[in-house]
Amino acid sequence: MTYLHDAFELAPADPILHVISRFRADPRPAKIDLGVGVYRDADGATPVMKAVRQAETELVREQQSKSYLGISGNIGFLEQLSEIVFGQLPQGFVVRGCQTPGGSGALRLLAEVLSSIGGRRFWIPAPTWGNHQSLLQIGSSNVSRYPCINAAGNAFDLGAAMEALVQARPGDIVLLHGACHNPTGIDPTSSDWQAIANLIADNGLVAMVDLAYQGFGDGLDADAAGLRHLVSRAPEVLAAISCSKNFALYRERTGAAFVVSGSTEGANILLSQMERAARSLWSMPPDHGAEVVRRVLSSPDLRHAWAGELTSMRERLIATRIKLAERLGNAQMPGLAAPIAAGKGIFATLPLRPAEIERLSKEFGIYLVPGGRINIAGLPAEGIDLFAEALATPPEARCVSVET
Ligand code: LMR
Repeated sequence: MTYLHDAFELAPADPILHVISRFRADPRPAKIDLGVGVYRDADGATPVMKAVRQAETELVREQQSKSYLGISGNIGFLEQLSEIVFGQLPQGFVVRGCQTPGGSGALRLLAEVLSSIGGRRFWIPAPTWGNHQSLLQIGSSNVSRYPCINAAGNAFDLGAAMEALVQARPGDIVLLHGACHNPTGIDPTSSDWQAIANLIADNGLVAMVDLAYQGFGDGLDADAAGLRHLVSRAPEVLAAISCSKNFALYRERTGAAFVVSGSTEGANILLSQMERAARSLWSMPPDHGAEVVRRVLSSPDLRHAWAGELTSMRERLIATRIKLAERLGNAQMPGLAAPIAAGKGIFATLPLRPAEIERLSKEFGIYLVPGGRINIAGLPAEGIDLFAEALATPPEARCVSVET
């Protein structure tokens, strides 16, 4: 007898999501999960935001039908979200969007559209979110990497990025993290954004911005400034937007793919291609999260409450970052403190060897993503000292104390 599964091997575990199961399997009560990128409060919880809960309550009370909305999804959601993301568009520019299952859905949708024309190379940052390559690489489409972080891990490396990107050919697609770079938290400065935007515009490249953490870095408008600058320089910009983090809607899979264009006809053509691709991928997107976001953003009270909650989340991230960097600096670990102090948002990447990362989980119950990425929000108030002490504990000292 032959089985279908004989044609397959066990697929490798996803390096980020695997951390969740390892953490869950650890019986130690004082364990710390610094793995998957979800916001956690000082008690380690990922609560439903109050404004979101309020909108959900109203939605359940008022919704009369769950009939299909259409391939592009919830139009009111797209209008409200595009305003948060792009602000005031330059004169003569239009935005068109397609609602997607999360930011990942948006990336995949754009990749489907772009790969259908063939011959274009995707340039993705190195390092980048572990799922970018799999989402963007379709069939034989080509993916190249451009370095973007300096050796100390504490600044965007414009020179290295430009050196690689000058090799891109007209029409190639350049993926950029809009803000709060995953996995390092290190973003381009505004003059870096200007240089990148000039290169993209001058060399006929296509910018594709992944904005998954708007509001987690410096604020809603500040975190969109790089993207908005690109829009002001290039004839067309693509964007993949996630509401998972800034609305804490993770499992509701809420996001959108947008094109901003100086040509209305061009934007309509690209939207029609997104809709064609969406129809063959998921037909129509899930509505719940999108309708919640629409309600939050279109009610002045809920919008105000949501922005306030987002500010508190950002402030906790900044405070945790400062405290952790301070502890590590005081413990004579400047190499670990620097990337934390320089970064923004939820992530930092620490220059740790695989054996050190393994030791943190085995000896201390502290779980990181392979590669040394930590989720700053994964540190509860009392976890900052525990983590700093674990990092400062040399393996030999630990062994001695275990033996005595
Ligand atoms: C992360 O990077 O941890 C998040 O974006 C969650 C994911 O899907 O990987």
